[in-house]
Amino acid sequence: MYCYCYCHYYLGKSVWFDAGAGYPIAGEIVDLTRTRISIKSLLNGKIFVFSTDDTNRVVSRIPLPPEGVNDMITMSDLSEASILWNIKVRYDHRQFYTYIGSILVAVNPYYMYHDMYSTDYVRKYENILVLHTLPAHIFATASTVHSKMLSDKINQCVVISGESGGGKTQSTKLIMNYLAAVNPGKYKLITEQILEASPLLESFGNAKTVRNDNSSRFGKYIEIYYSQKSIVGAKLSDFLLEKSRIVTHSNDERNYHVFYELLEGFDTEEKRKYGLTTPEKYFYLNQGASMAISSKSDAHDFQSLLTAMKILNFTKNEQETIFKILAAILHLGNIYFSRSVDDPGHDLIQISSKTEIEWCSHLLALNDQGLLQKLTHKVTEARDERLLSPFNLEQALDSRDAIAKALYSTLFSWLVARINQIVRVNNNVDNSIAILDIFGFENFSTNSFEQLCINYANEALQFHFNRHVFKLEQEEYAKEKLAWKKIDFADNTDCLDLIGKKPNGILQILDDESNFPKVN
Ligand SMILES: Nc1ncnc2c1ncn2[C@@H]1O[C@H](COP(=O)(O)OP(=O)(O)OP(=O)(O)O)[C@@H](O)[C@H]1O
Ligand SMILES: [Mg+2]
Repeated sequence: MYCYCYCHYYLGKSVWFDAGAGYPIAGEIVDLTRTRISIKSLLNGKIFVFSTDDTNRVVSRIPLPPEGVNDMITMSDLSEASILWNIKVRYDHRQFYTYIGSILVAVNPYYMYHDMYSTDYVRKYENILVLHTLPAHIFATASTVHSKMLSDKINQCVVISGESGGGKTQSTKLIMNYLAAVNPGKYKLITEQILEASPLLESFGNAKTVRNDNSSRFGKYIEIYYSQKSIVGAKLSDFLLEKSRIVTHSNDERNYHVFYELLEGFDTEEKRKYGLTTPEKYFYLNQGASMAISSKSDAHDFQSLLTAMKILNFTKNEQETIFKILAAILHLGNIYFSRSVDDPGHDLIQISSKTEIEWCSHLLALNDQGLLQKLTHKVTEARDERLLSPFNLEQALDSRDAIAKALYSTLFSWLVARINQIVRVNNNVDNSIAILDIFGFENFSTNSFEQLCINYANEALQFHFNRHVFKLEQEEYAKEKLAWKKIDFADNTDCLDLIGKKPNGILQILDDESNFPKVN
């Protein structure tokens, strides 16, 4: 902070003041005596009084225009406090978007203002030539990317990053809606099929967490291909589906949406066919004691899922197979084991209820005895011999959960491949627009291995961002010998190395250790 002598203070002056909160607050001087300065906080209207000797706690502030600044690169008073204050001022005026050069900052309003994404807005931003001629908007980003691809004939990519619940998936969908709306012959089937992939994948890959009712539990990279200025196909790539959620979730969270949608959407007859009842009856669904989400209708979303499957040409047989696998996973989770001891005193594992095994094997077209054996015994193949050794209780539960995870994650990969089969390109492609939407940074009270991977992916993305925004830009300036004051930024290379660098990074050590039996 800089120091100001008393003569710099005057009534109505804009200041930053330090109220001990750990960050400067924007205020205005409302009273001034020889010994005291009274400042009104612009955050909450409270009055704070400082001594005129306390000059390092009250510093000058350049006031913002009433609706804030559209592109923060033009702000001369640039600090963390002024950036946050500008975003807050804009938010209060229903301006949820702000630029920092070509980067768009989006604040999640948690309320859908449909008028902001109407056809009128599409038209308004469609022919934007210079990014900053209109108020910042996600459509402006989409429009710039689209027109740059068409005019420069260079592939474009939108990288969306932010913490969980920040609005990445919603922004991805808004960009895709924009691209579909400006596509010549926009109602073409292929465009519709690409759009319908989103609700389908959200049913299977999103879940309620304590941070977000519709949290993406996988990373998604979608490339939309163009030929002669029109969308002709797409390709989806998925990353790192959170497998542990299939068998366990924390309090107030849920398993993947699709299970609850299925149970709400099926009628009595369909439920009978798959041996299903209600969500609270399934161990894999009821651990969070949070079966319904107030902002979501599972029954309605099941109908949307069926529509998406129809548009993506899933056959009746494929749909039935998918439902069988999902139902089998739910039955599998309700298989319980009990421990007994045989004559020589060895631990034995028994299945408490046969019904679930019967349903599981029926739905998966397996032999009951074979499934039972897989759940209770380890099979070791030695030359021509197959040795069976009984699991203990913990191993049996692990084996049950491993089968459920393998079934679901294989189904998920199959779904992505199946969608790609439908939306793949059959023509020559000129260029593409890609959108990266990953799972956001998370910090729960208990963080599993999966949070480490999610946060590592976010750090890697931040590194990429730093590299482009700071490192490469500074190198370019240095190369051109431009007068330029180096900007310090938090370089996260050490953090990335600690986790991912070979040979001593945490992931590498875990990999090595996992190759040995009984490691600690
Ligand atoms: N622009 C927006 N307008 C209105 N509501 C929004 C907007 N962006 C996000 N939301 C709301 O916030 C919720 C969370 O957003 P979203 O799922 O996109 O977050 P995310 O960044 O993808 O989180 P995660 O990393 O957990 O997947 C959405 O379900 C929606 O209700
Ligand atoms: Mg998301």
